[in-house]
Amino acid sequence: MKRINAGLIGFGTVGTGVVKVIKENAELIRERLGVELVIKRIADTDVSRDRGVKVEDGVLTADAWEVINDPDISIVIELVGGTGVAKEFILAALDKGKHVVTANKALLSQHGAGIFKRAAERGLDVYFEASVGGGIPVIKALREGLAANRIESIYGIINGTANYILSKMTNDGGKFEDVLRKAQDKGYAEANPAYDVEGTDTAHKLAILIDLAFGANIRLADIYTQGITNISALDIKFAKEFGYRIKLLAIAKYADGRCEARVHPTMIPASHPLASVDGVYNAVVLHGNAVGSVFMQGYGAGMMPTASAVVADVMDICRNINKGITRRVPPLSCADDCVRDIKIKDMESLEIPYYLRFSVLDKPGALSKISGVLGAHNISILSVIQKDRKIGGAVPLVIVTHHALERELRMAIDEIEKLDIMRDKVVYIRIEESLGAL
Ligand code: HSE
Repeated sequence: MKRINAGLIGFGTVGTGVVKVIKENAELIRERLGVELVIKRIADTDVSRDRGVKVEDGVLTADAWEVINDPDISIVIELVGGTGVAKEFILAALDKGKHVVTANKALLSQHGAGIFKRAAERGLDVYFEASVGGGIPVIKALREGLAANRIESIYGIINGTANYILSKMTNDGGKFEDVLRKAQDKGYAEANPAYDVEGTDTAHKLAILIDLAFGANIRLADIYTQGITNISALDIKFAKEFGYRIKLLAIAKYADGRCEARVHPTMIPASHPLASVDGVYNAVVLHGNAVGSVFMQGYGAGMMPTASAVVADVMDICRNINKGITRRVPPLSCADDCVRDIKIKDMESLEIPYYLRFSVLDKPGALSKISGVLGAHNISILSVIQKDRKIGGAVPLVIVTHHALERELRMAIDEIEKLDIMRDKVVYIRIEESLGAL
């Protein structure tokens, strides 16, 4: 039977999972491919650690170049992560005529265009299913399954760590720091967990989804990014009272030649399927003009789910090699010369409902002062809650608005924060009501 050799660079959690999947499912992979898939070399700076998976003598090396320069290797799997040597390894592998599989969202979201260009020049494939949503085949869905659609919106819970923290805080009332530590212990968090909780990892993944969905080349810096570090137990409690849950959402909407591209904590109706996606699960709602809404859920992180995506990519490339073809499906689904820059809508022109929490002196007239400023900015109130009573002290006053312009909202907040009744900064959280009808 014909044999196709792959080489792995980065033998960490996901790399170990890749070797495990290929070993455990060897028979069915062989049946599905009609060729034998072999991991011929594995490079990692740590060649002594026991990963609980058997590797034959001579496979492991501390030198990534032994993988890249091996003439018998057709596919290089990059699982180093980051934007440093990983980029060098990928470009060198392409220059050596090897197809590439990567899970590197940070790299693709910032240097994807250069990598795809090099792959096109060399006539090679670059696959990256594991870069978004772990084991959920969302990239393949956008690139192939939904290729006939104009994608209108994407809503995603695409960081398992942030989702784990928010759902623990919502369901068990845990404290942010304690819950983050648990997520780190379970191996979900990024090497730098700030990437998880500050929304950076979600933005990396959203950039990749936007490029795929709209055949675009978005600049990461154009994605508005706000994390969950300021989400308090109080806001989680009020969200529940208004019938919402708070999720860190990646949102992209494309209309009239402009794209909304934003990552921020979002209140969503508790009845929407996304609101029940808890723990380390990820989920994505895609809305296409022909298909309507598609909802996908699965493990967004972890050894085996992420390895599932990596190995599926390797298998796709094996199938291409087996048929003597490359680039049957281009990286961003559209022809290379059709990838374009898209206009990103600025946040100030956003028009959605908002949750506002004011820490306000408990005295008659406070609400009317606040509502007066909101009214002057054309912001209409849907509902108000004030629970506590603390005459002469500060109490939380919560308002949910109808659709309002973010520009006006920010101006109103500036004015309200100057009122003598205010005791703290105003908290505001964006609300998404429809999330692509499901
Ligand atoms: N840190 C990421 C997460 C890992 O928590 O989802 C998967 O990209």
